[in-house]
Amino acid sequence: MLKINEHYLKLQASYLFSDIAKRMTAFQEANPDKDIIRLGIGDVTHGLPTACIEAFHSAVDEMAEDSSFRGYGPEQGYAFLREAIAKNDFQARGADISPDEVFVSDGAKCDTGNIQELFSTDAKIALPDPVYPVYLDTNVMAGRTGGFRDGRYQGMVYLDSTEENNYVPDLPSEPVDLIYLCFPNNPTGSTATKEELKKWVDYAKENKALILFDAAYEAFIRDDSLPRSIFEIEGAKEVAIEFRSFSKNAGFTGTRCAYTVVPKECMAFDSAGNKQAIHPLWNRRHCTKFNGVSYPVQRAAEAVYSEAGKVQIQELVNSYLENADLIAKAIGELGFDYAGAANSPYVWIQGKRDSWEFFDMLLNEAGVVCTPGEGFGKCGQGYIRLSAFNSRENVIKAMERIKKALA
Ligand code: MLT
Repeated sequence: MLKINEHYLKLQASYLFSDIAKRMTAFQEANPDKDIIRLGIGDVTHGLPTACIEAFHSAVDEMAEDSSFRGYGPEQGYAFLREAIAKNDFQARGADISPDEVFVSDGAKCDTGNIQELFSTDAKIALPDPVYPVYLDTNVMAGRTGGFRDGRYQGMVYLDSTEENNYVPDLPSEPVDLIYLCFPNNPTGSTATKEELKKWVDYAKENKALILFDAAYEAFIRDDSLPRSIFEIEGAKEVAIEFRSFSKNAGFTGTRCAYTVVPKECMAFDSAGNKQAIHPLWNRRHCTKFNGVSYPVQRAAEAVYSEAGKVQIQELVNSYLENADLIAKAIGELGFDYAGAANSPYVWIQGKRDSWEFFDMLLNEAGVVCTPGEGFGKCGQGYIRLSAFNSRENVIKAMERIKKALA
């Protein structure tokens, strides 16, 4: 008799964004004439930057000729892209990351979900609450938690991120092995200073722990004093792995390209207490389970770092940041407290009511989709998240409708 992995049975209903899509589809079916504006999932709406599209097209043409055709590429990514990433995203900011520490993949969601399989099942996990649900759910699937009680999984260390701590969690009061951090944060939009990240790096060193740093939204940082990478913090290379994505800066949500940086100094320990480098283990996993991102997509991603690409990406990100600003202003005028928006595409709103109730009200009364804060953790109860990823026109329309619905 084949038995299933019973840890899956502990998971709560379906994945947050599938739940939202289901409610939205049901609403649309019941109200076929209503025009819905989606400010829920952080999915981009503008076309790819011209520099990326040109590189994409010309790489597709190369695939048509025997002389320039490419079959399987290196699992870790082509050297041209790994070199461009190391140089532009890290070395240019004083972080000494080499191209062979960069692993190109098809998404930060997959990488942040998969990385946990390198670590022991009894690893103690700490994660912010609220936060992107993939970190938690993948650890539940792997059996690192007990059952779900009172809105939380037993055995997990939750790091409350609330208005009181400016949505930057405090260090855990008990020792933990693996720490997830995400800045600019999804969903609160909060950012962490160098001093704040330094505390986490020091903690990880003292406790022989590892930080999994999700920087998928770093392109939205406009405050130059803020770090864009954890590797801007001294000593972080020994205790941190970083995840990045081309989804939110260059609009690759449907094109799929991301990368993970695993420094060679980064260590975990075997049961005898010996240091084991993580880099060869992630490399082994990557080569066994992944065959690389397609050549045209990697050429399109490389174009992000061209002179034209850099300018176009700034424009793209700026347009979403201006949307975030419009949302924040309208929400403030309605008398709600909010966080985020300044260095992030998300606005985190204290809704003064149950977050799914707020979701339903916005959908039914305004035809606007948001993300209920509760889906990101217990501390998200009472909040909703609005995403700035849409056209200016739709954002203006959505905020007018919200104002009317709440009047
Ligand atoms: C979000 O809305 O939180 C993100 O778009 C989800 C993702 O990037 O997978």
